[in-house]
Amino acid sequence: MNSESVETTQKLAKTLAQIVTPGTTILLHGDLGAGKTTFTQGFARALGIKRPVKSPTFTLVREYQTPDFMLYHLDVYRLGEEGGADDLGLAEYFNASSVSLVEWSEYIQADLPSDVLNVTLTRTDTYDKIDQRKIEVTATGSHSQQILNQLEQTYGLDN
Ligand SMILES: Nc1ncnc2c1ncn2[C@@H]1O[C@H](COP(=O)(O)OP(=O)(O)OP(=O)(O)O)[C@@H](O)[C@H]1O
Ligand SMILES: [Mg+2]
Repeated sequence: MNSESVETTQKLAKTLAQIVTPGTTILLHGDLGAGKTTFTQGFARALGIKRPVKSPTFTLVREYQTPDFMLYHLDVYRLGEEGGADDLGLAEYFNASSVSLVEWSEYIQADLPSDVLNVTLTRTDTYDKIDQRKIEVTATGSHSQQILNQLEQTYGLDN
């Protein structure tokens, strides 16, 4: 789908937040400034989180309690500067009773579960349309496919 504003991106995030169930891992892909954290903010707000949602700075993970599950926001960009990592114990965040959103997941490949929802944000902005983004969502397993099917039913992704 195409997003022409922060609000549209966050509306999709909100719709997804209302569909996810514990055990869902969402990998957010896209360049610096594509909108991964912006997406996460819309997602967290829809789950009633009032604390400001921003990327972790001193740690790799920020944790939020929602009524139904723990929400983890991982941003492991820093690991890229060290050539990646695969034994930090991050796998514990991807479990059946919580939901996680991950920025720069390519740096923790070994810790990731196989069934994930991929959300890819691409800047498609031009000089007169600076807020344009393309957002693609794909699933890699049966749990994430179920979530994606529901997302497509509630939110036409083809536009
Ligand atoms: N349609 C849009 N969707 C999302 N963000 C948008 C959109 N249009 C403009 N923006 C702006 O783009 C920026 C996205 O920044 P954000 O921090 O979310 O990116 P990021 O992908 O998390 O980058 P980083 O890899 O540095 O963490 C924000 O300043 C936001 O206001
Ligand atoms: Mg970010």
